[in-house]
This record gives sequence, structure tokens and C-alpha cells, in this order.
Amino acid sequence: MARPRAENPRTKFTNIRLTEEERAAFEEAAATRGYKNVSEYIRFLHSEHLGKESSRTSAIETNARAYPKSLVKPFLTTDNGEILWGDSRGYLFGKAKPNSVDLIMTSPPFGLVRKKSYGNEDADQYCDWFRPFAEGFHRVLKDSGSLVIDIGGAWKPGHPTRSLYHFKLLVMLVEEYGFHLCQEHYWWNPSKLPTPAEWVNVRRVRVKDAVNTVWWLAKTPYPKANNKRILQPYSKSMEHLLKNGYTAKLRPSGHDISDKFSKDNGGSVPPNLLAIANTESNGRYQDQCRAENIAIHPARFPTQLPEYFIRFLTDPGDLVVDPFGGSCVTGVVAENLRRRWVCCELSEEYLLGAKARFVPTVQPLPKERGVPYEIASPCARPVDEEAVPLFEDGGAQRPASMRKKATEPKVAAE
Ligand SMILES: C[S@@+](CC[C@H](N)C(=O)[O-])C[C@H]1O[C@@H](n2cnc3c(N)ncnc32)[C@H](O)[C@@H]1O
Repeated sequence: MARPRAENPRTKFTNIRLTEEERAAFEEAAATRGYKNVSEYIRFLHSEHLGKESSRTSAIETNARAYPKSLVKPFLTTDNGEILWGDSRGYLFGKAKPNSVDLIMTSPPFGLVRKKSYGNEDADQYCDWFRPFAEGFHRVLKDSGSLVIDIGGAWKPGHPTRSLYHFKLLVMLVEEYGFHLCQEHYWWNPSKLPTPAEWVNVRRVRVKDAVNTVWWLAKTPYPKANNKRILQPYSKSMEHLLKNGYTAKLRPSGHDISDKFSKDNGGSVPPNLLAIANTESNGRYQDQCRAENIAIHPARFPTQLPEYFIRFLTDPGDLVVDPFGGSCVTGVVAENLRRRWVCCELSEEYLLGAKARFVPTVQPLPKERGVPYEIASPCARPVDEEAVPLFEDGGAQRPASMRKKATEPKVAAE
């Protein structure tokens, strides 16, 4: 019997130029996935891509119905920005235009083990809770824009082990939503108390948890940025070198330190470790909250954190958004730096306090940049190991002297 005519005969050709290695890699990938040839494999990749695109479109449509712009209401307007009161998903899917935001600078509620007054999501549910926000961030962010998320880690309840929720969030944002991890930063808060006390001070099997992860992501690998905007003062040794010159030579590491090394660039490129003490307990914001008997936000970040990323990643006039605005630290920094901005916050009480940052006048950024911090070299103190044995049970039991005091360990979350 004659073979029926193909309805959609494949008569057209497209040539793709590949290197030897690329071609070999395609053939290998096609064969290991059971495709007869590279053409079939490319068709499969294309249909998978279309599938992802259409599921994204339908997620945006569903979210647009679920989160209309009426969910947010104007609360305060300034020269450059506005505070919206309500659920920020109403902004992300209703009020904001697609591809309109240059920087999302935020600190979401952390997946803490001990609930704080603003209500934390259970670490295990965190990614599910975050999904509509991830979708909304992708919708509103420009291709040249950045998404910066400050997120602290969490201890598992009753155990000296850590939740993976903030790493899971990062993997989800990259693998499910197509964000690129530009660079992780670490915010070290030198003034953090040694917590959780049970594991750090009582059983002595963990160390102080004093660093937050800050995920810097973008829709493309090339968001706009310039590290010359955030240079730090040279170290004393570098200043000496700039003044007295440097003999070009090869370092033991193999790096060729040329005479360009002794050029004064106005400061050195900072590392991705930001040392910022979060100690502000008095100031216009706190005074206003106390005077009006308004709750002081328990999880504010210091102004220097958004300042670093706003200067690094945006120009004056760009739009900066904080969808988890809290006491509107991002807003007041953006206002000072003449960026347009929007802060959304669910709690009216936090916004009543935040108002003090803008009314009657905009609170200026602190001029004092704080002291530079030194981190001691590890193991700089001598120790007699025989006199200091390891806890063989890994801290499963409290020290004998403390056993009667408590049956259940108390775990501090931050
Ligand atoms: C970690 S705090 C942010 C603190 C802020 N960075 C500051 O310095 O004041 C997170 C905030 O997100 C708010 N929030 C949680 N879900 C929200 C939502 N769907 N829309 C708007 N705000 C929300 C919480 O009320 C909380 O104040």
C-alpha cells in the first residue's frame, strides 16, 4: 500500500553554523535523550520552550485576575515616589506596567522558625508562597534591571541545623523563573548578638549567625551596573603603595601584578561582603513611633544596604520598587538619591511609622558612614586542645551543670 502523503512535509532547510565541539555536543545530547538526530532534538527543545512560555502567560493571566490593582491604595506621595498600602501583588500584576522597573530592592518576610509579629511563612512552604511574587517580579522588571533580595537564614526548630529555604528560593528563581544569579552578596551585621543562644552560648556547638545572604538576580546576564559608583577607600597598605610606587612582579599565585596596579582609581572595588551594623535604635523614625505609640518595625534593614545597590545598579530618574516595604527604608534612600520609587506594605501601622521618614521633610541619609570593621584571622588565639575537648555528642545534651534548668532547647531565630 502506498504511504499516505505527509500533511506537513519537511521540505525546508535551515543551516546552523556550529563548531566541531558544539556539533558533537548536540549529537551526544540527542543520542542520550533517545532522539534519532539533531533535528528532532532541536524540535523538542523548541516545543519545550513554547510550553514554558505559554505556562508563564497563563500564570500571569491567572495572577492578574487574582491580584487586581484595587489591592493597593495610595498612602503617601513625595517628589519622587509613593507608598502604596496593601498587597504588593496588586501592584505587580495590576498597577505596574510590564518591563517598567529598574530595580526591585527588597527584604521579604523571612522563613523564620519562630513567628515574628509580621507573620512569617513556614520555611517549607516558602517557595510556594513566593511564586506569585517571583512571577510578578519577572513581569515588571526591565531586561536591564536587577532584583535584589536580602534574606536571612533560619534554624530548624529544636535542632542545631539550618533550613535550606533561602537556597531553595534562589534555585527556584533561577531554574523556574529564568532569573540569572549575577552575584550573591553577604551582609555581615557586626552587631548581631550571639544567637541561637542554646547552640552558641550554652552547648557551644555552633558559632554566631551574623550574615544574611543577598541574592542579586536579573532577567538577563547583563543588567546595567558600574562598580565605580561604589568604590571603597583604599586600605592603608594600598595608600602606601600608591604613594611610594610598586615594583612590577609575578606573585607566587601566578598573577602578574603590573605597574597599572599602582594607578589611583579613586578607591578599591568592594568585596561582596557588606559590613553594616544594624544598630540604629534612636532617630526620627523611632522617635515618631514612640511618640505616636506605633509599633517599631522589628526587621528593618539599614539604609546603607539599599543605598549600595541603588547607587551600583540605577541612575537618577530610574524606578526602584520595594514590594515588602516595611518602614520604607528603600523609599527614603531612593528619594534622597533622586530615583523614582514605589514601596508597598500590607500593614497600615508600619506605614504610619514610615511617614516620619518623609514628613514634614525627607530624612537625609546619614553622613557618618560608620567605622570600618576588622575581622580577626581565624584561630588567632592559642588553645590547649586537651583542656578543651570536643562535645562528642555534638550538643545533643545540655552540659551536665545546666541539665535541670530546661528540658526543651529554646531556639532563637535570628
Ligand atoms: C522584612 S520586612 C521588610 C522591612 C523593610 N526592609 C524595612 O527596612 O523596614 C517584610 C515586610 O513585608 C510585608 N509584607 C508581607 N507580605 C506582603 C505583601 N503581600 N504585600 C506588601 N507587603 C507585604 C510585611 O508586613 C513586612 O513589613
